[in-house]
Amino acid sequence: MATTFVPAPAAVPGPSRWPPGASFFKFRRDPLRFFVDAQRTYGDIARFSIGPQEAYLVCHPDWIEDVLVTSAKKFHKGVVLQRARRLLGNGLLTSEGKEHLKQRRTIQPLFHRQQVQRFAEAMVKHAVRWRGSIAPHATIDITGEMGALALAIVGETLFASNVQADADEVRDALTGAVQSFGVMFLPGLEYVEKLPLPVFVRVRQARERLDRVILRVINERRHGTSDAAGGDLVSMLLAARDPENPSEAGMTDAQIRDEAMTIFLAGYETTANAMSWTWHLLGGHPHVAAKLHDEIAHVLDGGEPTVEDVPKLEYTRAVIAESMRLFPPAWTMGRLAIEPHTIAGHSIPAGALVLVPQWLAHRDPRWWPEPEVFRPERWAEKSERPKYAYFPFGGGSRICIGEAFAWTEAILLLATIAQRWSFTPVRPPQIEARITLRPHGLRMQSVPR
Ligand code: HEM
Repeated sequence: MATTFVPAPAAVPGPSRWPPGASFFKFRRDPLRFFVDAQRTYGDIARFSIGPQEAYLVCHPDWIEDVLVTSAKKFHKGVVLQRARRLLGNGLLTSEGKEHLKQRRTIQPLFHRQQVQRFAEAMVKHAVRWRGSIAPHATIDITGEMGALALAIVGETLFASNVQADADEVRDALTGAVQSFGVMFLPGLEYVEKLPLPVFVRVRQARERLDRVILRVINERRHGTSDAAGGDLVSMLLAARDPENPSEAGMTDAQIRDEAMTIFLAGYETTANAMSWTWHLLGGHPHVAAKLHDEIAHVLDGGEPTVEDVPKLEYTRAVIAESMRLFPPAWTMGRLAIEPHTIAGHSIPAGALVLVPQWLAHRDPRWWPEPEVFRPERWAEKSERPKYAYFPFGGGSRICIGEAFAWTEAILLLATIAQRWSFTPVRPPQIEARITLRPHGLRMQSVPR
């Protein structure tokens, strides 16, 4: 009888485990450099340790697709998002399995293209307000300003279509919570967070304040005691039903709180970073900026942009796509293997953390000719590159639910602001790779057009 020979899965190459902690410190000091070095030295898959956690860096787009799409059932979200439950509860970003599927089904319709178009007016209104607040030749903290602008937009669309005071109060409470939240990512947190240290007391107080504000807004929408006309996302979450069980009751207040918090948090810093990196790149590439201004002048003809202009602003979209290629706001994603898995003949044990890095795939010369060059024109060219050579919004069943929202917002903000202003470099940013990729310390000068 003929026997089929099945080769044993190969061990994954990676840096020596000795001395313990060496990889961890290199990774913490400069994760982007660490990733680049690991791929260069070990290839498309590498093993290393982050403290006690065994981690695998997976760089080939086909293998990334396997982790995010084909074999997604074998993985849960990584450690960082699991810890984020302390702030986000059990919302879309952090829930798993059947619970996630049900919530996703229920909430998805709120983010369809047609729904998102209803928020376009608020996006342009805030962008017009912002561009009117800028003085000529002022030095601007672009990252801070884009953060405030994106927060105001997501705050208004989520919590109050026309009740500014609610949006402002939630924004203040959220800012406090986010500022105190950094501590949640300290190694060994599980062992110390119950101690009555001032830092943990502050985190708890910030979350309690945020809960009070959000639950009050939910309560008012539920009982119709506010001026919001039902067009904001909280009202829509209250009305949402699972399409597979439409007669079932809607979400509880606690669920709506978790989803609202999740959308708020997931929806503002990512967009703010995408906008900030885009201004930084435009500042260094005046010929791209000139072409962008030409398109905006031609399409808008001096008027304010509307949602109908979005599909016509093709070069504007390419500028943003190219900016998110070079500086993806989500620069890596983590998944925890819940059972053993084999990737291209390499075995990954249960419990391992698998990292799929946008930072490497988006700059890989195999898929991107002259990968370091900012060239929006490449988006109009035909290409055979694999699908997961570019995945700024993730993929599979966990793909960003706000993708259409983010594209609409980024295109409208860029067009509205660039209609009146250019920004020239004053101080280049440092790349800060934390949960998102932030341009830290970016300062630019406003030049009227
Ligand atoms: C440029 C802007 C944005 C980028 C780059 C981005 C990126 C991402 C990525 C990579 C994921 C997947 C995370 C993972 O699988 O581990 C994600 C998920 C998510 N995003 Fe976004 N996002 C952006 C804007 C937004 C906006 C505007 C919203 C809401 C208004 C939003 C809401 C969410 C939610 C709720 C999830 C979780 C989806 C799920 O697991 O079912 N995002 N985003």
